[in-house]
Amino acid sequence: MVSFIQTMYGIDLSHKRQLITSRLAVSIRQRGYQNFSDFVDHLLKYKEDDEVTLVLNKLTTNYTFFMREKEHLDLFSQKIIPELVARHQRDKTLSIWSAGCSTGEEPYNISMFLFDYLGAQAKFWDTRILATDISDRALTAAKRGIYELPDTLPSSWKTKYFTDNQNGTHTVKPMIRDNVIFQRFNLMDPIRFRRKFDVIFCRNVMIYFDQPTKDALVQRFYDATVPGGYFLISYSENLSPKSPYKRRAPATFQK
Ligand SMILES: C[S@@+](CC[C@H](N)C(=O)[O-])C[C@H]1O[C@@H](n2cnc3c(N)ncnc32)[C@H](O)[C@@H]1O
Repeated sequence: MVSFIQTMYGIDLSHKRQLITSRLAVSIRQRGYQNFSDFVDHLLKYKEDDEVTLVLNKLTTNYTFFMREKEHLDLFSQKIIPELVARHQRDKTLSIWSAGCSTGEEPYNISMFLFDYLGAQAKFWDTRILATDISDRALTAAKRGIYELPDTLPSSWKTKYFTDNQNGTHTVKPMIRDNVIFQRFNLMDPIRFRRKFDVIFCRNVMIYFDQPTKDALVQRFYDATVPGGYFLISYSENLSPKSPYKRRAPATFQK
């Protein structure tokens, strides 16, 4: 199963035997399998979406939050957005991809920064963000757009970009929600989106991948980036020196 998951999804579980068995134990019993190897035999033989999804949902972490790595978002909003807006004055179109978007906080956050910068001009621009993930469960939550908000989110944004719910949660307003297009996409697959991207965020995703998988993916991202476009990873990751991108700042790369 470890090699099946690695080949299909790039996720390296080879040192995680304990985690795999403990995280899957209850679901395997609930689904009526006799034991773990019974489940693995079935998974490998039929490769049913349902069982594969179960494994992915249990073994990848969807942990994410608004304003994650704030300094990085500051650089995005103070340097990259102004640069792109200047570059796209004619076509008024920005293409941004949040790859491994999990439950949606990252792409919605990007959308808020864009609206903040563009202000009244926003209605003249197409800034729709592509947000993809392999996990259906995460994408369902992302599309729902209901969150508990951290104190780190500017309080003016709480009223500008969210509506309050009675139970203390907050729902992303349509202006922000409609600016994000969620789609299921496995990062191991060829990247065949119609457009190339001005910015690709892929933060805290490649941590699961082994080096060759990561290098190949970074090359595919590079091919999908416009010249002068940016590639942002998380502060806890780094790119191999072989990467075709040029490093501009911590976790910030440019084509
Ligand atoms: C920890 S979250 C990162 C969320 C967000 N980018 C952030 O930095 O907060 C990692 C996400 O990567 C997704 N993921 C892992 N392997 C993937 C693959 N092969 N294709 C697409 N998404 C994948 C997981 O489902 C998970 O939602």
